[in-house]
Amino acid sequence: MGRVQGKVALVTGGASGIGLSAATLLAKEGASVVIGDFNVDGAKEAAREIRNQGGEATGIFLDASKEESIAEAVDFTVKKYGSLTILYNNVGLTNIQKDLDVVNIDLDEWDRLMNVNTKSVVIGSRYAIPHMKEAGGGSIINTASMAAFASDSIRSAYGASKAAVVQLTKYIATQYGKDGIRCNGVAPGLILTPAAKNNLSEELQATFMRYNALPYHGDPDDIGNAVLFLASDESKFMTGQTLQIEGGHYLANPTVPFFNEMAAKQKESN
Ligand SMILES: NC(=O)c1ccc[n+]([C@@H]2O[C@H](COP(=O)([O-])OP(=O)(O)OC[C@H]3O[C@@H](n4cnc5c(N)ncnc54)[C@H](O)[C@@H]3O)[C@@H](O)[C@H]2O)c1
Repeated sequence: MGRVQGKVALVTGGASGIGLSAATLLAKEGASVVIGDFNVDGAKEAAREIRNQGGEATGIFLDASKEESIAEAVDFTVKKYGSLTILYNNVGLTNIQKDLDVVNIDLDEWDRLMNVNTKSVVIGSRYAIPHMKEAGGGSIINTASMAAFASDSIRSAYGASKAAVVQLTKYIATQYGKDGIRCNGVAPGLILTPAAKNNLSEELQATFMRYNALPYHGDPDDIGNAVLFLASDESKFMTGQTLQIEGGHYLANPTVPFFNEMAAKQKESN
């Protein structure tokens, strides 16, 4: 029996990257999965691939910036598979051109990121919760980011929007716990999705690696597996938490790489 056998999931932004990994793993472990994505062809292709592997999935259009589109996706899921017991609010945007420091940030971009990254979590949960109550419980999982915990010289809106997701996760957990609804989050560090691989130079990837405690980068399944755990009853006594999955990148005193490199040089010269 699969780890989420008989459960029904809606995954937003599931056509690629982290969402695709979570959708694939949930289906592999027995959930029926609706993949909602702006990229409807990608969502349909992902669902086809899951069905080819023996799972159950359907791809549909979803625009996480629009309330009616999220409501329709929830409705579709319940009509298609009879209930909704897992909601993975995963869509999130970043923009390093316009989302800058607070003096220079484009305020329209601030609104857009808050809308897509944070408000979509409120809206998805708002429409899913009545169905979860009806089913006797459910699991809501939100994608935050390590940008919620560590600040940056730019990306003020992204960081603030993801910090709000961490806090909302606690509020939802508190408000609906007695209905058997759990709410947890994942906060990824750098995850080398196909898009990230294309966008980050080798030099930038090496810079990230320098500060990782572990000698490798994260991949989408590192997050997908955590989502699967949070969706399953294996985490049934866990709620309101956001798991930081980041290879130890933010773990240590920032001077550690410097001292490690100094020690290596000394060893070499001895
Ligand atoms: N990759 C990382 O290093 C990383 C790190 C921290 C947090 N995250 C977060 O993880 C989540 C997924 O990121 P990813 O790296 O897998 O991204 P990705 O770009 O690989 O996938 C995002 C998916 O969301 C879809 N999407 C974008 N806007 C949408 C909208 N308005 N409505 C519906 N679908 C939309 C895209 O079409 C795409 O399929 C995001 O919330 C992101 O902020 C990613």
